[in-house]
Amino acid sequence: MAIWAIIPAAGIGSRMQSGVPKQYLQINNQTVLAHALTRLSAVAEVECVVVALHPRDSHWATLALQEGPRLTTCAGGDDRCRSVLNALAALQTRAQQDDWVLVHDAVRPCVTTGDICRLLGEVAEHPVGGLLAVPVSSTLKKAGADGNICATVDRTDLWQASTPQVFRYGLLRKTLTDAIAAGVLVTDEASALELAGFAPRLVRGRADNIKITFPEDLPLASLILQAQARE
Ligand code: CTP
Ligand code: MG
Repeated sequence: MAIWAIIPAAGIGSRMQSGVPKQYLQINNQTVLAHALTRLSAVAEVECVVVALHPRDSHWATLALQEGPRLTTCAGGDDRCRSVLNALAALQTRAQQDDWVLVHDAVRPCVTTGDICRLLGEVAEHPVGGLLAVPVSSTLKKAGADGNICATVDRTDLWQASTPQVFRYGLLRKTLTDAIAAGVLVTDEASALELAGFAPRLVRGRADNIKITFPEDLPLASLILQAQARE
């Protein structure tokens, strides 16, 4: 079974409020996207990485990466799930139905190659696939409409989903297509599988695999990458 990878990188980063989309901001002299790509590409078993770009992307070319059989791009869609679906379509002449597809956010530059390999190892015998996730560590509060607490939510059995998420090519494409057709714009791949009645595997990942969302995430990611380089 071959392993393919997809990086949805077509977002505009509205919560970051920067002129440049957050996947193209620099951390430690490299763009966020280049960090993520380097870490996925370090997994030798990955045949090809497809990066979904915004139709009006003007930054990808400045990375000056060599495109070819191991790295290609496609146009992203209006939502993350549509970007992933477009990338799956771009692989249709190469991927077999039962091949694995790793999907990793362009804005998670701190994922370790060790975690990606552990994820692949843990789902190898799984009928559906799975994702890296971290057990929730904080006490969770539910807010009422007035901004005051209306409940404390039991965090036992609650996990924060991250990426990569890895599923079979055929089943991922079908469940994503069906979710969108049903009007559900899922924010991760596992949700599409769950909607279809499947139960993906939760694989405990490192808590430092943060998603760059707000401005304060940038210096944090910079420190994490420096600390990882010393490991
Ligand atoms: N993404 C994408 N296509 C979209 C929207 C998002 O490929 N139409 C990608 C983003 O580029 C990012 C990942 O999906 O790598 C996770 O999305 P998120 O963190 O929500 O990024 P944005 O949508 O860009 O940010 P925001 O929600 O703050 O606007
Ligand atoms: Mg978004």
